[in-house]
Amino acid sequence: MKWLRKIRPYLPQEIPGPMAVLYEKVATGALCGFYRQVASEVTSSLTRGRVLDVGTGPGHLLIEIARLNRDLELVGVDLSWKMLQIAESLIRQETNTHAHGKGTGICLVRGEVHNLLFPDGAFDLVVSTLSFHHWHNPMRGIQECLRVTAPGGQCWIYDLRTDVPARTHAESVTAKGLGRWALGWIFKYHGVDPKDYRARSVAQCLDAGTTVEVEVHPTYLKLKMEKPLSKVRGKTARCKNELVGSMAPSEETIS
Ligand SMILES: C[S@@+](CC[C@H](N)C(=O)[O-])C[C@H]1O[C@@H](n2cnc3c(N)ncnc32)[C@H](O)[C@@H]1O
Repeated sequence: MKWLRKIRPYLPQEIPGPMAVLYEKVATGALCGFYRQVASEVTSSLTRGRVLDVGTGPGHLLIEIARLNRDLELVGVDLSWKMLQIAESLIRQETNTHAHGKGTGICLVRGEVHNLLFPDGAFDLVVSTLSFHHWHNPMRGIQECLRVTAPGGQCWIYDLRTDVPARTHAESVTAKGLGRWALGWIFKYHGVDPKDYRARSVAQCLDAGTTVEVEVHPTYLKLKMEKPLSKVRGKTARCKNELVGSMAPSEETIS
């Protein structure tokens, strides 16, 4: 969607206070299946180490990861104070109910994806869900995520697809009636177009040796990057072809 791309630099990146509350109440409940799916991908790929969630929002993904594996060190970063406040209270609630008072191992930090306040290679896995379309400079954001990824580590960016009908989004959420229909339309306009993120074009912006794969799922896109174990000479990253996810994508996106 060309017009969405054009106005992106003029839109605020962070979700403002009242919208943050609304987002947590409405959207995240409908997305619980998605967070569980991403959390299980994270814990299947990593059993120990440090995970960074960029644009963590209310922290649902980190909470789901903590439920699956208490040995991971989890850090959430977000630009919005209000989102961090909401995340803090949900994590406290999680500690008191499901974790029986034991800490979840989640730490929250305020920060900006284009200038992360972490040293090089600080995380074994950097993940981000539904935040990418807010970033003013998406490629700079990915480069920064990879800077803080450890050699041999991975960076996974998930975002919703704007090129699928609102109905497809509506069918994928856990909501009913009008709410389901409204979320379908909201999700359709809060994401990215896979045509703008082909593996080859993303690879051109990254360091040599980095591997780039793009998984196109029916309602979301996963950009999957792996950092080489040591510095590689050369000009650009390696790209694997676009992968079709476990579910079939719509025809227009694989043409
Ligand atoms: C739609 S919410 C998604 C939150 C959460 N990841 C989820 O999946 O529910 C997008 C989040 O990204 C944050 N965000 C947007 N731009 C950012 C940036 N440049 N740096 C850090 N966080 C950012 C927003 O404040 C917001 O909390």
